[in-house]
Amino acid sequence: MGIIINKEENIFSLNTTNTSYVFAVDNEGLIRSLYWGNKIKNIEDFYITKLEEVSTNDPVYEITPEEFPVCGGLRYKEHCLKVNFNDGTRELKYKYIGYSVVNNSLLIKLRDEHYDLEINLHYIIHEKYDLIERYVTLRNNTDTSIEVEKIYSGQFHIPYENLNFRNVHGHWGAEQQMFTQKVGYGKIYIENRRGISTHNHNPYFILDKDAKETSGEVFFGALKLSGNFSGIVEQTPYGETLVQLGINPHDFALELKAGEEFKTPAIIAGYTNEGFEKMSHNLHNYGKNELMRDGLRDVLYNSWEATEFKVSCEEQIKLARKAKELGAELFVVDDGWFGERDGIDNGLGDWYVNERKFPKGLNQLIDEVKSMSMKFGIWFEPEMVNPKSKLYKDHPDWIYNFKTREADTSRGQYVLNLSKDEVKEFVYNTLDNMLSTYDIDYIKWDANRPISQSDVRRDIWYKHIQNLYDIVRKLKEKHKNVYFEACASGGGRIDYGSLEVFDDFWTSDNTDAYDRLKIQDSYSYIYPIKAMRAWVTDCPNFLSKRNIPLRFRFHSAMMGTLGIGCNILKYTKEEEEIAKELIDEYKSIRHIIQEGDFYRLENTSSNDYYLYQYLKEDEAVVFAFLPQSKIGHRGTRVKLRGLEENKKYKVEYLNQVIEKTGEYLMNYGLDIKLSGDYSSCIVRLSRTLNY
Ligand code: GLA
Repeated sequence: MGIIINKEENIFSLNTTNTSYVFAVDNEGLIRSLYWGNKIKNIEDFYITKLEEVSTNDPVYEITPEEFPVCGGLRYKEHCLKVNFNDGTRELKYKYIGYSVVNNSLLIKLRDEHYDLEINLHYIIHEKYDLIERYVTLRNNTDTSIEVEKIYSGQFHIPYENLNFRNVHGHWGAEQQMFTQKVGYGKIYIENRRGISTHNHNPYFILDKDAKETSGEVFFGALKLSGNFSGIVEQTPYGETLVQLGINPHDFALELKAGEEFKTPAIIAGYTNEGFEKMSHNLHNYGKNELMRDGLRDVLYNSWEATEFKVSCEEQIKLARKAKELGAELFVVDDGWFGERDGIDNGLGDWYVNERKFPKGLNQLIDEVKSMSMKFGIWFEPEMVNPKSKLYKDHPDWIYNFKTREADTSRGQYVLNLSKDEVKEFVYNTLDNMLSTYDIDYIKWDANRPISQSDVRRDIWYKHIQNLYDIVRKLKEKHKNVYFEACASGGGRIDYGSLEVFDDFWTSDNTDAYDRLKIQDSYSYIYPIKAMRAWVTDCPNFLSKRNIPLRFRFHSAMMGTLGIGCNILKYTKEEEEIAKELIDEYKSIRHIIQEGDFYRLENTSSNDYYLYQYLKEDEAVVFAFLPQSKIGHRGTRVKLRGLEENKKYKVEYLNQVIEKTGEYLMNYGLDIKLSGDYSSCIVRLSRTLNY
């Protein structure tokens, strides 16, 4: 049973396969966190101590590890909720009203002592993934509006000091740069204020007690929100660490009218004492099985890096034919197909087919693509408009702009005020119309600048993204077979909010195969590989100017859902052969890559090898990369993971075939020696039947 309740003591225990999360209503009526860790089946073992104030300066409210601290009373700590009542009262005092359980969900009902404002704490257990999901709803049963100044989705308590905090930093072209820092006294604050997700921090926390890849305690949580989030990690003076995540209170305020309800984004959180690998597996499996659509992702060709804005039907057809010849299954025409779009300054918002580029219409290209049994995809940037566009001329009031200011442009464009109903309707209708008129299988949904001059209403930061989710959900409901890729100047929209709605992430505009190894490695801590689009592109790379052999570039991109972004019309015969061979190989292993378990393997060499494994039932694949061969040219010995000790595996790599037991492969490992710069190899393993 997932939810166990001690009714007399008001103790609630949320149990997954291996973990327990326990809290209680204490003698003060506060919802107090009791435990988060390995499973403790017997709820009777838990009891609530009476907390005494440490001093008048450390009152009980301040020292209680609350599940959902509100702003009010003798609380000076970080809170999750601050509201202003219309009579000027600017604090809350909640009391516990009761609970309800439906299947795997628990609802804890709180209400303000004086005002009829419900604060409902929702918990959902994802038992087999060892995950707990939390969110909060507020319901205003009074007859006047209430202003919500801050609302987070929850607070977690970890009964340790000196933890390590992990997140990513970065910027455009350098997303997902993982960092670790010690948590000391004071607060760590991560956030996004841009409206359109971010390349900087990511909405999650990982806190570990000196954990390693396969051992040690890890507490983690990820917020299901694209857009403005913030998170606080604090080691308190009372010997514990707390974490909060939610909507960024920066420039935020929400009017909750009489009778209205508001729901926060959820946090999906977990605990493991088996290190980062287990954390990743739990989150990946949840993402793959519960949020993402079934089935394998296609090998994609995208023409952006080949043609940029110089799109012509004729050339796109040539690219599509070559892409098919090489093995691509989905052809995506990127930016530049619409309006008067010849560069970044023109055309966004005018989503009609450019007749100069497609004199016989878009169907000429689509028909050709379909006649080759390929799927067809197309690029959109629906939230944006260029000042030089028909849309802006017709609706200058549809953008975010303060009337007394000149509107800000970035990449030559404005952001449409998607929080307005008519704009939301326009975006939906535009895409619905395109999907109804043309045989489109895939939409790459881009967003290339942040929001500024938001609106007089301070809830737009949140409303913008909710409306975007609504549009995509509604489109998917009507056009069931269409897949949506989330892109925002590369990897600016990677989060669990997007994953609930979109199908693919564009991981980064940085397509340098070496840089990607690091980006992909950091990405893999939280997000499933199946959503990670990775392309092979031309050299020298447009960003790094680096030259990397085609095989290494392919291997790096084959670690996710493979895409090709090269100008394949310029491929030599040899490059064509390599591409065909590796696309073919990818198709034969993609079920392991996209659906299997992912392992970050340890490198034991003084050379910097990058080593990764994927495992699905009886089959496994290992990728080995050596970007630079250093002095001594030593190989590495890599221990594999997750195999069956007593079974034998056929191992094919570097022109040899050997047979070894799982026990040997996981303990002794495999000797891999690569040499030269940018060398790489794939190791394939399959369990032999005869053992
Ligand atoms: C963004 C995307 C790219 C490409 C361009 C087109 O930068 O990340 O992949 O689609 O826009 O303008």
